[in-house]
Amino acid sequence: MKLNYLSQNYETLFDTIITVNGWIQTVRTQKDLTFMKINDGSNAEGVQLIVDSNLEEKDGNINELNIGSSVKATGILVKSPANGQPYEILVKKLKVLGIAPMSEYPLSKGKLPLDYLRNYAHLRMRTQTFGSVFRIKSSISIATHEFYKSKGFLHINPNIITVNECEGGAGVFQITEHDMSDHSKLPQNKNSTKHEWSQDHFCRPAYLTVSSQLQLEAIACSLGSVYTTNKSFRSEHSTTSKHLSEFEHLEIEDVFIELSDLMQIGEDYIKFVGQYLLDNCLDDINNLGKFVSKGLLERINTIVNAKFTRLKYSEAIEILKNATTLSQPVVYGEDLCSEFENYLTEYFKGPVFVSHWPIDIKSFYMKQCNDGTGECENFDLLMPYKVGELIGGSMREDNLDLMLNIMKKKGVNPEPLQFYLDLRRFGTVQHGGFGLGLDRMCMMFTGMESIKDVVAFPVYYKNCNY
Ligand code: 4AD
Ligand code: MG
Repeated sequence: MKLNYLSQNYETLFDTIITVNGWIQTVRTQKDLTFMKINDGSNAEGVQLIVDSNLEEKDGNINELNIGSSVKATGILVKSPANGQPYEILVKKLKVLGIAPMSEYPLSKGKLPLDYLRNYAHLRMRTQTFGSVFRIKSSISIATHEFYKSKGFLHINPNIITVNECEGGAGVFQITEHDMSDHSKLPQNKNSTKHEWSQDHFCRPAYLTVSSQLQLEAIACSLGSVYTTNKSFRSEHSTTSKHLSEFEHLEIEDVFIELSDLMQIGEDYIKFVGQYLLDNCLDDINNLGKFVSKGLLERINTIVNAKFTRLKYSEAIEILKNATTLSQPVVYGEDLCSEFENYLTEYFKGPVFVSHWPIDIKSFYMKQCNDGTGECENFDLLMPYKVGELIGGSMREDNLDLMLNIMKKKGVNPEPLQFYLDLRRFGTVQHGGFGLGLDRMCMMFTGMESIKDVVAFPVYYKNCNY
């Protein structure tokens, strides 16, 4: 029996014999009794096993059982006299499935720091904390699909291998079929030291996508409302707690809409996910709230009921210029650093949409305003709790001539983007979309302070270990 089934049905199962499986999370012996807390990963609580030293049926060396060992237990489900624990199992039959020797098992001590556990990504999911994090992450995924399904969006994942760079400055990983460990064996252009891409797999340079947006635009310009949950890949040398080389990227694209509609979808979506977690993951939220993320329940409730402020980039710059506590100068036409992002969310005491940035510091595809300000119809959504930028989105330039001009100005190669220009050539429509880092959203809804702790096997600059 899975432990999540047990936790939902225990009242009807009292005094019956049940069998459960799991890994030992804690173990202690008192006189003739051994108390083992086991969990199979399916819920926050796990279950307490009570094993009598005179146990009749045992299979394996139960004296060696320690944290991390796996067992199968059969016994009677009874009401527990212990506080905060409605039931426990009086074990009749215990089978050792796998011993985790105490002297070798790296997680054999109770509470361990998160950065220590990062060295054991393959085992840390057995801890209470990481169990809760990943169950919440799974629920974020389910909530995402429920939300977009209810809004009539189609879920389509375009190709990850691409010839487009999309976000100019983000940095791409190139793809080759060649063994890079021996340069002398690489196909080389006879007249130069350049790699001969014509002899590589796709006969041209290809990359892992940094964003599925461009293909998603093409799909939206046929099918309407669409979204993807693809991975995106970025080779920038970021060492912050919010950047990964590979991340889960929710991107939506919609047609016949306006910028304010996009912001509304973003806000509604985040609130929907928060509410879904409150309705479905309360045990895990409370579990994290007790130890690693104090005040998590309150945080999620606050986000679900928050006012999402909307203001223009130029207004944000004015507010920042008037601030007296900032450590760096504020300059119109520059990006907002984390300190500025945090200042704005604290200033407005909640999430902030910053819209209409100067096109000069934003991507070529963003729709330009025709009011002579040099601004574009875009937004970043900044979230409190030091999460910072969670969404980046925009209306897309849908006028062919303006698009060609801006590509020229920004030095974007039109050659691999002919399909993209066709969308403006043939039946162009007003459209836009956004990208949201699902791992960052998971940080926000679990209270974990590093993105490395919300991804099972995080891949980041100078770290790819699994
Ligand atoms: O702001 P970004 O770069 O926007 C785009 O890629 C657009 N093409 C999206 C679109 O309009 N379809 O990225 C969007 C979001 C960021 O706000 C952030 O939450 C997340 O993706 N993100 C990262 N998450 C983890 N690690 C990284 N290196 C990330 N880079 C961006
Ligand atoms: Mg961005």
